[in-house]
Amino acid sequence: MRTGSRMKPDHIAIIMDGNGRWAKSRGLPRAAGHRAGVEALRATVRAAGELGVGWLTVYAFSSENWSRPKSEVSDLMGLLKLFIRRDLAELHNSGVRVRVIGRREGLDPEIEGLLHEAEALTALNRKSNLVIAFNYGGRDEIARASRRIAEDVAAGKLSAENIGEERFAEYLDTAGIPDPDLVIRTSGEQRMSNFLPWQAAYSELVFVPCFWPDFGRAELMNAVEVFSSRERRFGGVAARDAS
Ligand code: FPP
Repeated sequence: MRTGSRMKPDHIAIIMDGNGRWAKSRGLPRAAGHRAGVEALRATVRAAGELGVGWLTVYAFSSENWSRPKSEVSDLMGLLKLFIRRDLAELHNSGVRVRVIGRREGLDPEIEGLLHEAEALTALNRKSNLVIAFNYGGRDEIARASRRIAEDVAAGKLSAENIGEERFAEYLDTAGIPDPDLVIRTSGEQRMSNFLPWQAAYSELVFVPCFWPDFGRAELMNAVEVFSSRERRFGGVAARDAS
């Protein structure tokens, strides 16, 4: 979508941050924050569908999250399994296509199986798209893409002079997915944390103060409002300044 301001974002990507602080502020264990985070995710997927957002990408687990205590990693894995088991049928019935980005090698086979099942079941859905960034790190994604490009060059399937932005993007996990128009991060932190560094090069960023479990339809609509009031120039000049 390259047509400037006052448009609805077709692709919204979200850094769901603040589960731990939400729990702490209530005297609850971090796991309770992550559980509440799943409820917020459900509400947001529904709201995005109702708003007619074509693509929603969520940062569910980063490559760096493995460094958290074992019990927390295992809670997050459990919640992903629960989310897919409980919500896959509803997502499918609502015409949502699920895609997963991130490193697949080395994942627990049960998780890998569920991710594969979610993608396979919904592959033909066209109403909207949910992209789950799981075991995802942007630099890792770019390094993996570069390695595959080097392999293809070495095998004579690709010539070095044909590598440009478009060809490179075809080797990323997000091949075929439009770049996000809007990236939202909750909890007041203002960082990208290795989330879609290639794809978000021109995205509008909206930082929302609330913790992720408190995010829902109203907060999503607010962020979309903010987006619509911005003017996107993609390195050019505003239409009104063009002459
Ligand atoms: C950040 O909160 C959130 C995450 C690390 C992961 C997001 C996970 C969910 C929304 C729930 C799980 C859902 C799936 C589908 C796996 P934080 O723990 O960094 O919060 P803090 O910064 O306040 O400690």
